Amino acid sequence: MSELVQEIEKLKKERQAVILAHNYQQDAVQDIADFVGDSLALSRYAATTRAKVVVLAGVRFMAESASILAPEKIILLPDSQAGCPLADSIDVEALRETKARYPDAAVVCYVNTAADVKGESDICCTSSNAVAVVQSLPQRRILFVPDRNLASFVARFTEKEIIPWDGACLTHYRVTLDELERARAAHPEAEVLVHPECRPEVARAADFVGSTGAILKYARESRSKEFLIGTEMGILHRLQLDNPEKKFYLLSPGLVCPNMKLTSLEKIARCLREMQPVVHVPETTRSRAYRALERMLAV
Ligand code: 13P
Repeated sequence: MSELVQEIEKLKKERQAVILAHNYQQDAVQDIADFVGDSLALSRYAATTRAKVVVLAGVRFMAESASILAPEKIILLPDSQAGCPLADSIDVEALRETKARYPDAAVVCYVNTAADVKGESDICCTSSNAVAVVQSLPQRRILFVPDRNLASFVARFTEKEIIPWDGACLTHYRVTLDELERARAAHPEAEVLVHPECRPEVARAADFVGSTGAILKYARESRSKEFLIGTEMGILHRLQLDNPEKKFYLLSPGLVCPNMKLTSLEKIARCLREMQPVVHVPETTRSRAYRALERMLAV
């Protein structure tokens, strides 16, 4: 065990901390984490852990979700610059203006949003429960923010009228249908597994569309020996660990999220040493955002 890893283990005990890592984190960060998962699983873990301190190895909205669900805990984000351009594509004023134009619509916000946007929404969703969340609502019209590709994926599986926001994940957006077809020609036996943040034509051409957690489950259970993966490259680590006998190829070399790559072991050690940067959602915003997240967790 390296000195740095030993220091992190020691600090974790002293601070009564847990390290939660998203599936897109660097391999070494995933290896040191107490729990690795998709957005929904990270939220659930943060809501129930007994630890006093949560190090969220991910991006800001994930740390905010942990703070909203577990306000008594100290939430550390190892790099305060780790943001999400998709979450930044909508702010609360713009959402309020759009809501006023669709007064009969329910607002469903993707978890990739700021806390105040969650507070202005009826319910939150992640990529693993978006269809079920939309189906659970009595309204026929749904204002779905901010990912238009996830909105389009949801629209395929519900009878509801989905009004999408015009945001997209810059990393998933890079994957083109042409790339998918070329990759398929190079690996004709491989199943194509993609994230619903991919463009609609890419999602339609795939064999399976799901959250990072769902992709991991699908790959474990499938009888196929080869897979083309259409989501951020960090997931390859778990895919390979879980399935040493199977082969995984990235659908596009562009599938790298620069924000997810900002977290390192050095920054995790430093944040546990200094107990900062802390992410704390103020109570007025938190209590409103909590309703949207809690409603999601109940679906
Ligand atoms: P998952 O919920 O599938 O892990 O997605 C997280 C994410 O932020 C994708 O951009």
